[in-house]
Amino acid sequence: MYILAIESSCDETAVALYHEETGLVRHEIASQIELQSQYGGVVPELASRDHIKKLPTLVSNVMKDIPASEISCIAYTKGPGLIGALMVGSVYAKTLAFAYNVPAVAVHHMEGHLLAPMLEEERPDFPFLALLVSGGHTQLIRVNELGNYELLGETLDDAAGEAFDKTAKMLGLGYPGGPIIEQLAKKGITRKYIFPRPLTKQPGLDFSFSGLKTFALNTYNKSNKSEQCKADIALAFQEAVIDTFLIKCKRALKETKLKTLVLAGGVSANKKLRAAFDNFAAEEGIKIFYPRIQFCTDNAAMIAYAGYCRLRNLGHKDKDLSIIPKPRWALSSINNEYI
Ligand code: KG4
Ligand code: ZN
Repeated sequence: MYILAIESSCDETAVALYHEETGLVRHEIASQIELQSQYGGVVPELASRDHIKKLPTLVSNVMKDIPASEISCIAYTKGPGLIGALMVGSVYAKTLAFAYNVPAVAVHHMEGHLLAPMLEEERPDFPFLALLVSGGHTQLIRVNELGNYELLGETLDDAAGEAFDKTAKMLGLGYPGGPIIEQLAKKGITRKYIFPRPLTKQPGLDFSFSGLKTFALNTYNKSNKSEQCKADIALAFQEAVIDTFLIKCKRALKETKLKTLVLAGGVSANKKLRAAFDNFAAEEGIKIFYPRIQFCTDNAAMIAYAGYCRLRNLGHKDKDLSIIPKPRWALSSINNEYI
């Protein structure tokens, strides 16, 4: 059984092919970074138009030697994300499903991120704690089993990736901010600046990152604005984010008594963050899992896998042609039900 998957929730157009026995067959991603970075961030209308342009080629590349009759299902991202971008992917997926006479299976984008480590040979066992850190979300989730997600804490304002992006923008560094700050931080002087660890002094598992970018801006405005200064700020900012994640994860693991931790989403591509969490896991005697680096950021392999799990566990409801993208959508609301 082959599953063809389409991801188009933000500024990456991605298509993947997954086989139930052999796993991921092929995947392709067309990034809009070059297009969007001219505007310093994602322009939703441009994102939708580019998805329309890129999808046909990506689908034919990924399908290559596989006849359409071999496809059993089309998985696609129903939300959350940009409404126009989701609409393009949903229409494309539903149309293909209709043409191939197979079901379309809707996938929650964050469930895709959450399950991305399952594309690897060594996989976490349920239950586990997940820290989902992307451009739009920062959430601590108790994952009881597939489709059963309990929200333990989340950001009250900016998501972690958003904070990386906004801080980079304020320092005039370009988009997306995460990888740029990670590179620049390598040249930073340790402890030149110390940034706050937001919401760590009080109890609870929520996060707040909007103050960090203001702290970065104030620090920058008071500095001599040299390249070294930017690197020192990048390092201090990154350390504060990583430290905050560590404090909250330690707290959540203690509260839930879970012994396995999954980190996923774009920010989990950060190598300093992964090194800090590897140390933490060794010290605490817990198991830790990440997606491979290329599957931390948006991709369709994770959507294919999540779609495959949903199809396997739930079957499909119908071949309804209605298209109802969900730009705002809580992961904890999906349960093990049709979505
Ligand atoms: O998961 P993702 O591709 O898209 C969303 O679902 O939002 O995450 C994108 C976010 C961006 O904010 C980007 O700056 C951040 O992930 N990111 C990183 C790194 N690579 C991507 N943040 C920190 N370090 C990185 N290496
Ligand atoms: Zn994402």
